[in-house]
Amino acid sequence: MSRYVGAIDQGTTSSRFMVFDREGTVVAQAQAEHAQIYPRPGQVEHDPQEIWRKTQDVMRDALDGAGLTPKDLVSVGITNQRETTLIWDRRTGEPLHNALVWQDTRNDRLVAEFARDGGRDRFRGVTGLPLASYFSGLKLRWLLDYVAGAREKAEAGEVLFGTVDTWLVWNLTGGTDGGLHLTDVTNASRTQLMSLESLDWDARMLAAFDIPRAMLPRIVSSSAVYGETRAPFAGVPIAGILGDQQAALFGQTCFTPGEAKNTYGTGCFALMNTGETPVPSKAGLVTTLAYRLEGGKPVYALEGSIAITGALVQWLRDNLGMIRDSAEVETLAATVEDNGDVYFVPAFSGLYAPHWNEGARGLIIGLTRYANRGHIARAVLEATAFQTREVLEAMEADSGIRVKELRSDGGMVANATLMQFQADILDVPVVRPKVAETTALGAAYAAGLATGYWKGLDDLARNWRVDRRWQPRMEAAQRTKIVTAWGRAVKRSLDWKL
Ligand code: G3P
Repeated sequence: MSRYVGAIDQGTTSSRFMVFDREGTVVAQAQAEHAQIYPRPGQVEHDPQEIWRKTQDVMRDALDGAGLTPKDLVSVGITNQRETTLIWDRRTGEPLHNALVWQDTRNDRLVAEFARDGGRDRFRGVTGLPLASYFSGLKLRWLLDYVAGAREKAEAGEVLFGTVDTWLVWNLTGGTDGGLHLTDVTNASRTQLMSLESLDWDARMLAAFDIPRAMLPRIVSSSAVYGETRAPFAGVPIAGILGDQQAALFGQTCFTPGEAKNTYGTGCFALMNTGETPVPSKAGLVTTLAYRLEGGKPVYALEGSIAITGALVQWLRDNLGMIRDSAEVETLAATVEDNGDVYFVPAFSGLYAPHWNEGARGLIIGLTRYANRGHIARAVLEATAFQTREVLEAMEADSGIRVKELRSDGGMVANATLMQFQADILDVPVVRPKVAETTALGAAYAAGLATGYWKGLDDLARNWRVDRRWQPRMEAAQRTKIVTAWGRAVKRSLDWKL
């Protein structure tokens, strides 16, 4: 008898495989990092073959480590870094180029050209997204323009496009030997090629971006049996796919309109469930799919995407050598009372929501002889909370709903100093659930629902339990003072021109 559900979580910096039981408890896991390739400033690539190899490694290691076999899994779900764009040869399975990672800004000239002709928001009505280097459509267009022979082969149906979910499903189900070519609605909603209404590739978008339809995967729901894994993990139904931020929303069981979560990872991604009708954003958020269960209506979300949060802590470690490991930032920040008037705007990939500005660049401002390493560490942590406040304010403006509490997850929620500051700066309680691995859990939930392991959403909601709650305790005047200073620092970052 199969006892568990598995989840592949293929993220920006690592791949994980986790196995869950009915209570949502982790019973097995393994994780492996992959190389970040930075060919030039603003460019970030991953090697697709390395990602596929590491995904298989972590599946094997997690199962072996817990004495399990594929037969113990009732189904497996997939969740993935979104927008990252791959093209590969249908016959050989060979990628034509490294994956262009979501943070990569090499298509910025294309973005500017399209925006010049009709404005940055010209495709929001159809796709929910502003023009930005972030989304897959113009990354794919860049590959078709610059990789020799790619366009001709794509038009002949010899080259396939996919986000990471598509690449993994294709490989898991046989690759060159009949691999399935599909993606789910949440991942498709990040390409800027899908209509939010029809949930199909939009002919106007394909024409505008000049993308051959023959290379695009079939769009499926987020929870259904799509096919089975082949050797070496033979015979496990693949039954759920969700982009990683939508998976975290699902894993946090935010099934009711108005419920919101924020995931603190490389970047921060705040999503609010807005129900069965897409809510257009006027305040600089994106409108996106939250999930669609098989046979059910699509559920939409508003999202505030922030490119750099945890990545700033890594930068402090790797590029400045100021800390030895990420956890040390909290210790260092604790050596000072406050930020000493230092603000750090980490606009390393420009600024995403709510500003959408490729030209913004990072800055540290407010330095005096008084400032020390502790203040810089503190400013690094605070940057995450200030950016989150910006997107939550936008969310409340767009939805008309006041967020009552913020469910948090991701690596940085281990940092209690940050979580307290987050509650202070939002003036809203911040809550961490018992199972903090909500991204993988969300994918497992989708896969388990499709195969009857869990009966319905109520079953899942019962699994959600509070681990810790941080109450706001900052004086209003102090909050206003530092939020205003942050706003001034952001303005300078936006004004920066090389
Ligand atoms: O949109 C990008 C997002 O999906 C990346 O998430 O957790 O892999 O950094 P993460």
